[in-house]
Amino acid sequence: MENISIAIDGPASSGKSTVAKILANDFQFIYVDTGAMYRAVTYLALTQNVALNDEAGLVALLEKFPVRFKQAATGQRVFVGEQEVTKEIRQNDVTAAVSEVSAQKAVREKLVELQQDLAKTGGIVMDGRDIGTTVLPEAEVKIFLVASVEERAQRRYKENQEKGITTEFETLKEAIAKRDYLDSHREVSPLVQAQDAILVDTTGMNIQQVVSKIKEIIAQKGY
Ligand code: DC
Repeated sequence: MENISIAIDGPASSGKSTVAKILANDFQFIYVDTGAMYRAVTYLALTQNVALNDEAGLVALLEKFPVRFKQAATGQRVFVGEQEVTKEIRQNDVTAAVSEVSAQKAVREKLVELQQDLAKTGGIVMDGRDIGTTVLPEAEVKIFLVASVEERAQRRYKENQEKGITTEFETLKEAIAKRDYLDSHREVSPLVQAQDAILVDTTGMNIQQVVSKIKEIIAQKGY
């Protein structure tokens, strides 16, 4: 496989990260979970008492506690400064606050710069909301993954149960719908399908079927 860039965007819980990880592993590419970066800043804001809309304060946090990834056998570990926050960034309080933080222009500028830097070698699978439109507009392959809110809530519910996080199904569904709305209606880089992205609706598909479908798309593009 050539050293191409693969951008995977889509709404919350559409399966982006699971699929992106498998593709990166199969192609021996680097995987970058950009949502984890927005979650990491949000975690910092909540623990360091910085307001979720304090742009300058949030950027200062990122400068003081840089977000880094470490690859491990168990998956990607996330750090802010020296502190590991892999589990903390998945907790409900972070999830509920992340859309507000990720709507701040200065935060996006800072993280997009970091993401572009991580991608400059190519051989990358990056997932998020604005990868195909803003972060890697030249990506050779752009996928936009969607699924019904009902199915995404079911997937997240199962995932949470496995991680020992308790949440009510209806609450989860509402939270996903709310995050969809906020992420799609923010002013800066809203969640939107890039013109040259290929839409894959994963409702009713299992992970392996989605991976196969994306591999087919990549092959059809001649890579
Ligand atoms: O993919 P995720 O659910 O972990 O992402 C968490 C939040 O981060 C999501 O609600 C919107 C924001 N995000 C973003 O604005 N841009 C990205 N490229 C990735 C995530």
